Amino acid sequence: MAIYIVLLLGAYLLGSVPFGLLLGKMAGIDVRRGGSGNIGATNVGRLLGKKLGVATLLADLLKGVLPMLLASWWLAGDEQRSLVVGLCGAAAFLGHLFPIYLGFKGGKGVATALGVFLYLTPLAALGSMVVFVLVLLNWGYVSLASLSAALLMPGLVWLLYSAPAALEPGVGELLGPAWVEIWLETLLALLFALLIWFKHRDNIGRLWRGEEKSWRNHQK
Ligand code: G3P
Repeated sequence: MAIYIVLLLGAYLLGSVPFGLLLGKMAGIDVRRGGSGNIGATNVGRLLGKKLGVATLLADLLKGVLPMLLASWWLAGDEQRSLVVGLCGAAAFLGHLFPIYLGFKGGKGVATALGVFLYLTPLAALGSMVVFVLVLLNWGYVSLASLSAALLMPGLVWLLYSAPAALEPGVGELLGPAWVEIWLETLLALLFALLIWFKHRDNIGRLWRGEEKSWRNHQK
């Protein structure tokens, strides 16, 4: 039990590290004082250019994946391994959204969520990346692309993973082990989507009023 708590706490603390803010400070600015004020890759890219934006994206994505990889390795052979690994992903995501180092005022969670779901349900994560790219190319708003990808993620997890599980002999019953895992992953995707939408509430307001800045306008 104690090891589960250590892993979850470690995941939260790693998720709390604001890489976008740190990279911005290294480049001489506080990204919370410019653009959208967010510490995520989009705002870092907007204020400091593509390279630092991509670096922030990768760092925020990895801080979702690494605690899960570590927990999976540490708990090899443990009965609760899958559950604790999934919870470590959730803890890292919550760390990014509500970081202890920044008075619990963090980012919007899209890159970290992507990292978590690339680990848990890679097909669904890739599907949601396709949605993201299509919306971005069509309408030009990163926030709208993020909101769309997050909204479709629970459905993608359910469709892409429940259908193959249902076809496997012996796991068709609704409460079998494979189904429980799919239910939990779908619920996790739903929870992530709700939190991502909540964190994008200012973007939603700007999109609604037609005031959101297009991605094409802030390319350097
Ligand atoms: O992932 C964040 C993105 O969806 C919006 O970022 O800086 O435009 O609020 P931003």
